[in-house]
Amino acid sequence: MPSPTLSRPRSGLSPKAMVLLTAATAALGGLLFGYDTAVISGAQLFFKSTFQLSNAQLEMAVGVVLLGAMTGAALGGWLTDKLGRRSVLLVTGVCFGVFSLWTGLATGLGTFVTARFFVGGCIGIASMLTPLYIAEMSPARIRGALVSLNQLAITVGIVVAYGVDYALAGQRDWRMMFISAVIPAIVLVVGMIFLPESPRWLAKKGRREEAFENFKRLGRESEAEQEMADVERVLREETGKFRELFSSGFRIAVWIGVGLAVFQQITGINTIIYYAPTILRDAGFSSARVAILGTVGIGTVNVLATILSIFLIDRLGRKPLLIIGCAGQAAMLGYVGYAFSQNQHGLAVFAGVLLYIVFFAISLGPVVWLMLSEIYPTKIRGSAMSLATFANWFANWVVTVSFLSLLDHLGTVHTFWLFAILSLLAILFCIWLVPETKGRSLEEIEESFRRLGHGPAQAS
Ligand code: BGC
Repeated sequence: MPSPTLSRPRSGLSPKAMVLLTAATAALGGLLFGYDTAVISGAQLFFKSTFQLSNAQLEMAVGVVLLGAMTGAALGGWLTDKLGRRSVLLVTGVCFGVFSLWTGLATGLGTFVTARFFVGGCIGIASMLTPLYIAEMSPARIRGALVSLNQLAITVGIVVAYGVDYALAGQRDWRMMFISAVIPAIVLVVGMIFLPESPRWLAKKGRREEAFENFKRLGRESEAEQEMADVERVLREETGKFRELFSSGFRIAVWIGVGLAVFQQITGINTIIYYAPTILRDAGFSSARVAILGTVGIGTVNVLATILSIFLIDRLGRKPLLIIGCAGQAAMLGYVGYAFSQNQHGLAVFAGVLLYIVFFAISLGPVVWLMLSEIYPTKIRGSAMSLATFANWFANWVVTVSFLSLLDHLGTVHTFWLFAILSLLAILFCIWLVPETKGRSLEEIEESFRRLGHGPAQAS
């Protein structure tokens, strides 16, 4: 039965406001992802002395979060395909709060490492589920901007973590640094209680009435019938078996997803995000204070350029942004390597690094998480995203643990040039394989991949 309030969703909000509120609330999952990966950079000096850790123990305490994230990414998709988007995000919010508190109250290395492993698990789940949920809730024409709120939240989380670390460093209060994450976790949980379940997931579960109702709650009264019909049409085509991914046109979607996820990491972003103070010190910023300020500057530029990407992503499209961004990254990495080779340290390196961040923030940063949420079939979207997200965290881990050895063995110049070459390869990959998804519904994208399995049609 059509609802009596035809032009407004039941919350009384305008359709646009309702969808924006949904995306912004879910994006807190991204904020926690950013905050919890970055907060440890400032906290490590202090808990190292509280627990009297050796360097090897410190490395384990810092690195365990990535192992947790890999595990969370691997399990998250299966969980959400079974239990729903909203409920898994809600429980992830609760776990974020509990394990952040546990980290802050840790009494020894064992409890600390365990708590951080579970925080990592939450990060892994949030990293795949937040963009997925937002994508399934959004109308096609602004899906890029709405899903990119997730990336914006990640970058804000990173800067806030740097700020909190800086503010609490005077009191050496590392415990509060971790406990502060409880605040956004509570907001996420409360918000998710009020948000609707994804209509696409409900439709896949055969809960047609609720799915239809939720399309309407999202303010798409006039389009709800059509959207439901489209969703149901593609669902009829799907087997819902994971192996469907490898037996049809979706095989190419698997390659695209895993490739993009890996390129996002192996072009070096987290060597800058995690090791900025070390790089800036090598570049001649000898005072620790200046190096930390430089790090905050990098984080701020990351946020600002991500805001720019939100305006570009549904206008220019995903593919042009990827190509421009990877080309810019390659140029800047080449330049930073050159600056090091000529001993032009200091500001020259800093400017190159800042521009590199700008290029990442308008391309591989937001576009990868967006495209992962767009290119898989509805019934197994979660599990398929898990695969790519696992690859992303694995590549992140490989780069992070090998970066300092690369600097030792290859030297700074060649390490940056290696990342530059990988960025050039990313351009070729995007030109060759990545389709444009701008303005197309998730169902249209799915159908074009399916057609690839049946004949010569193009996904783009
Ligand atoms: C990446 C993270 C990175 C962050 C930086 C995200 O898209 O997945 O690995 O730290 O962007 O902004």
